[in-house]
Amino acid sequence: MSTVGMSVTLGTTTSAVAIDDVSVRFQSKRTEVTAIGQVSLDVAPGEFVSIVGPSGCGKSTLLKLVSGLLKPSSGSVTLLGEEVRGPRHDIGFVFQRAALLEWRSARKNILLQAEMRGMNAAEAGKRADELIEMTGLAGFENALPHELSGGMQQRVALCRALLHQPRVLLMDEPFGALDALTREQMNVELHRVWRETGTTVLLVTHSIAESVYLANRVIVLTQRPAVVKEVIEVDLPAERDYSATMARAEFAAATAHIRDLLGAVTGHD
Ligand SMILES: Nc1ncnc2c1ncn2[C@@H]1O[C@H](COP(=O)(O)OP(=O)(O)OP(=O)(O)O)[C@@H](O)[C@H]1O
Ligand SMILES: [Mg+2]
Repeated sequence: MSTVGMSVTLGTTTSAVAIDDVSVRFQSKRTEVTAIGQVSLDVAPGEFVSIVGPSGCGKSTLLKLVSGLLKPSSGSVTLLGEEVRGPRHDIGFVFQRAALLEWRSARKNILLQAEMRGMNAAEAGKRADELIEMTGLAGFENALPHELSGGMQQRVALCRALLHQPRVLLMDEPFGALDALTREQMNVELHRVWRETGTTVLLVTHSIAESVYLANRVIVLTQRPAVVKEVIEVDLPAERDYSATMARAEFAAATAHIRDLLGAVTGHD
């Protein structure tokens, strides 16, 4: 793609993430699966991109490529101007399950990130307290994971992923295990955190409403092997009150369009 070529020749990071003609094949003795057909995607610094697609189409695989946990069979992935060749530690990752250490308090779970990276303890502590405040966890710093609700546990996971101030945050179905109301609250909070931190976010989600509410762009993938079916530009005001956003005509149009696209690729509906 010409924009990718331009970022390389200029030697500057015009894309936070550049996925260039990537394909992924998994081969074992028993099976051979092409998870990603051929995908290209540029994500601008500070952008929020949602990725939706049928179950098993290759969404988690795509995030693993960006984090360097997996190598593409062909094509390349560039993160912050540098080709991804192995696990990248300058990102944040939030999964469907919070995966907290049961014997550590909320704050100590967040600080795990600092310990693993050998960050300055005083600075990490200050940053942890800011994030605790920002995500509404104040008062629960010393609670153990089993004393927290599912939503609060995900907030702890989000704080942990943001502690080292990553410029790129990858999220794989982070709110999939939450009830609908908690999920909406988390969406509002994530939107606010994103605006306050300026982090580039790639979010994989099964919720069409969530994908539109949060993103600047929604990438709709096809059935496996995944290719980009369509890219939807989300035209919503930056200030996103939840109910007011749901009521907007642009929101209804975008979600209906994505539902049609997913219905077409899955053959349901
Ligand atoms: N390590 C692996 N070895 C072999 N096959 C794999 C591996 N990881 C993923 N796959 C296959 O690749 C395809 C895509 O998997 P992936 O987990 O990326 O899908 P997904 O879109 O995240 O699905 P879901 O929405 O259910 O989470 C699946 O068919 C899966 O079986
Ligand atoms: Mg997945």
